[in-house]
Amino acid sequence: MGTSGLTTTQMTESETEAVSELLQSSYTWLGEHEGLTAEQTDFLVSQRGSVDHVRHESQSQLYLVARDGGRIVGVVAVSGDLIAKLYVSPEHTGKGIGRMLYEAAESTIRAGGHARVRLGAFPTAVPFYERMGLEVVSHRTPTGPLEGLNMAMMEKRLGAKGFEGPKI
Ligand SMILES: CC(C)(COP(=O)(O)OP(=O)(O)OC[C@H]1O[C@@H](n2cnc3c(N)ncnc32)[C@H](O)[C@@H]1OP(=O)(O)O)[C@@H](O)C(=O)NCCC(=O)NCCS
Repeated sequence: MGTSGLTTTQMTESETEAVSELLQSSYTWLGEHEGLTAEQTDFLVSQRGSVDHVRHESQSQLYLVARDGGRIVGVVAVSGDLIAKLYVSPEHTGKGIGRMLYEAAESTIRAGGHARVRLGAFPTAVPFYERMGLEVVSHRTPTGPLEGLNMAMMEKRLGAKGFEGPKI
């Protein structure tokens, strides 16, 4: 294992390609494990995972990347109170990288003054997010190429953190 060399910081322009590659392998993995059609997997890999899409999206969303040494092993994108995506490279799951990325995203959302964290999760990721303290509030199927998928809409309320002093 060994997560001691791990860091999470904002994606740089030169990392766009590596993040695109990571997303493409995660989407391929998802396609196999979520029962997506070949067209849906292809849409995710060739459009959502493309360098152009990542470059475009990272202009309006905060992209944070997890690095293990020089290697990019995970990515999370935050927009307001929404975690727009969170992926760990399929070869690096189960080592605490997802938790590290989630916590970085939650801190960012909290620092933005938001009262909750929101996201739409693929079914296989629901237990992970429950572990992070979120709960399923509804289910939704997207419109467009991903129609038919059963996404879990999840939320976590961000209570005020800190000392609960005695009430006088
Ligand atoms: C879901 C995902 C982000 C989790 O990342 P990860 O690095 O493997 O997770 P971590 O190792 O940080 O696990 C954190 C905690 O969640 C738990 N956990 C992770 N995946 C889990 C699962 N499938 N079922 C139950 N618990 C799970 C771990 O046991 C761990 O618990 P602990 O810290 O109390 O010991 C990662 O597996 C992934 O990218 N999956 C494929 C793509 C995907 O579904 N992404 C989310 C899109 S919505």
